[in-house]
Amino acid sequence: MSKIDRLDEYISVINCELSSCLPECFYNEPIVTQAMQYSLMNGGKRIRPVLTLEFCRMCGGDINNALAFACAIEMIHTYSLIHDDLPCMDNDEMRRGKPACHVEFGESYALLAGDALLTYAFEYALKSDFMQKDPSCAAEALRILSTCSGISGMIGGQVVDLKSEDKHVTIDTLRIMDSLKTGALIKAAALMGTVIGGGNNEQKQAAVQYAENLGQAFQIVDDILDVTADEATLGKPVGSDKESGKSTYVSLLGLGQSQKIADELTNKAIEALDVFEDNGFLIELTKSLASRKN
Ligand code: IPE
Ligand code: IPE
Ligand code: MG
Ligand code: MG
Ligand code: MG
Repeated sequence: MSKIDRLDEYISVINCELSSCLPECFYNEPIVTQAMQYSLMNGGKRIRPVLTLEFCRMCGGDINNALAFACAIEMIHTYSLIHDDLPCMDNDEMRRGKPACHVEFGESYALLAGDALLTYAFEYALKSDFMQKDPSCAAEALRILSTCSGISGMIGGQVVDLKSEDKHVTIDTLRIMDSLKTGALIKAAALMGTVIGGGNNEQKQAAVQYAENLGQAFQIVDDILDVTADEATLGKPVGSDKESGKSTYVSLLGLGQSQKIADELTNKAIEALDVFEDNGFLIELTKSLASRKN
C-alpha cells in the first residue's frame, strides 16, 4: 500500500467508526448528541487516532484492537477544542471551517457536549472487544489516556496557557506548556498504540521520545499558522493568539526562529523512529506535519 493510500485508509476507517459510535439522543432531547456529532464529524486531520493505529501496526499488532482507543482519543481531542474555543477560554468563533460549537449550539450545550465527549471516550473504549480480550493491556492504555488528558497532561497545559496571557514568559515555560497542552495527547496516542500492539520497552520509550518532540513541533507550527495561514485553509481564526495576548514561540522568538525549532524537533521525532522496522509511512507523515497548511 502506498503511503498516501495508508493515510486515506486510516482516516476512512476512523471516520466510519466515529460516525456510528456516538449514543442515540437522550430522552427525546437530541441537542447535546447533535452538538457532539457536529464537532466530531467535521473534518479534523485525525492525527492522534492515525498515530494510535500506526504505532499499533508498527509493533506488529492488529489495528482493529486499537480502533476504539483511537476513536476515544479523537473524542477527547474534540472536547478539548470545543472548550478551548469558549468565550471564557480563547473566544474563537470558527473551528474546522464551521461555526464553533458554542456559536452553533450556545455556550451551555457546547460545555455539555465537551463534557459528554470526554466521558463517552472512556465508556466507548471500556465497551470494546479488546477490553474483554486483554483487560490488563486495555486498562494500561486507559491509564495512559486519562493521565495525559487531565491535570498532569492536557488540562495542566491549558492552565499554563491561560496563566501566560499578557505576560512575558520564558522559553522553559513555553516548552512545558506546549508539551502538556498538545504533547500529552500526542504522547497518549503513540503510547496507547504501542501498548495495544504489544510493543516492547524499547519501542514504548521510542514512542514517548517521538511524541515528546512531535508534540512541541506540532504546537509551534500551529502558532506559526495562527500568523501566516489564511482563514479558509486553516478553518479557524487567524491572529487569535495575538488578540488574546497568548505567549507562543512566535511571540517570543519570531517566525523564522520558531520554524527552525519546529524543524529540529521534527528531526528528533523522526530519529526516535529508528527502532521500528517499517517506519517509512510515519517518517513521511511526520515530515509533512512540519510544513502543513492547516
Ligand atoms: C489543534 O489540533 C489544536 C492543537 C493542539 C494545536 P489539530 O491541528 O490536530 O486540529 P484538528 O483536529 O485537525 O482540527
Ligand atoms: C490548543 O492550543 C490546545 C488544546 C489543548 C486545545 P490552541 O488554542 O493554540 O489551539 P487552536 O489554535 O485553538 O486550535
Ligand atoms: Mg488555546
Ligand atoms: Mg485556541
Ligand atoms: Mg493555536
